[in-house]
Amino acid sequence: MSELYQTITEGSVRDLVNKFYRQVRSDEKLAPIFDAAIGTTDDKWEQHLEKIAMFWSGIMLGIKGFEGNPLQAHKALPAFDGCLFSRWLAIFANTAIETHGIDAATSFIRKAVSIADMMSRDLYDNPVMAPSMPELPANMKYSRTTPPFQAANIPDALRRAHRTAKNVHGRIVMTKGRLLYTIGKVQCHVLSRDNCGIIEPESLHFVTPLDDVEFVVEFYKDPLLSSSQGKSSS
Ligand code: HEM
Repeated sequence: MSELYQTITEGSVRDLVNKFYRQVRSDEKLAPIFDAAIGTTDDKWEQHLEKIAMFWSGIMLGIKGFEGNPLQAHKALPAFDGCLFSRWLAIFANTAIETHGIDAATSFIRKAVSIADMMSRDLYDNPVMAPSMPELPANMKYSRTTPPFQAANIPDALRRAHRTAKNVHGRIVMTKGRLLYTIGKVQCHVLSRDNCGIIEPESLHFVTPLDDVEFVVEFYKDPLLSSSQGKSSS
């Protein structure tokens, strides 16, 4: 893995933007929307990447130069499923943590969530919508609960992509604030006191504090499966 950027610079923004759109261009659900609006040639995409790098340099570094109108640009697109914002964010959040150190990545992710929320409210009268949360099967047996985590003491291992063990379900229970829960590169959920996150066995996931959070993770095991499979790694 190449070294992570600890500070945000024009170069790190450009790297993130290039890597993010490389994945978007091969994503089965997002690529058709972008290709229809931008085109499929590298030339057209170069112009888009240049524009988006200016956008993020403006947002993160205050550098002037972006002259577009994102709300208008998205309004002008043919209607698309509102849950795609959750997918867009999942790819973005993964790219941020794959390219940047935790603090810098968190700054990118917080900005992206707040802009996506604003766009989603504008287009759908709703904050970012997500596909339904996985469910905790009824037969699971409670195993243990972590100590409470606050923004300052969330282990980096939980803030980078990691997996639960076989046979272990997790439930993220919020007592304060909002936490972004990213599952694979396909969905993101904004968790809050009213909205727990369910982690399925072996699911690749990570969390990002969006503000002054406090939460615990409860673990559950399937009593019918062997206990040797039941060690949690989340
Ligand atoms: C499902 C989510 C999204 C989809 C499908 C989407 C799609 C697109 C497409 C197709 C364009 C090109 C429009 C054109 O040139 O005609 C575009 C432009 C843009 N997008 Fe998104 N987008 C999404 C979310 C976001 C989010 C969350 C952000 C920011 C955090 C963002 C930032 C931008 C910007 C800055 C532009 C350029 C706007 C301009 O030309 O003025 N997009 N988007």
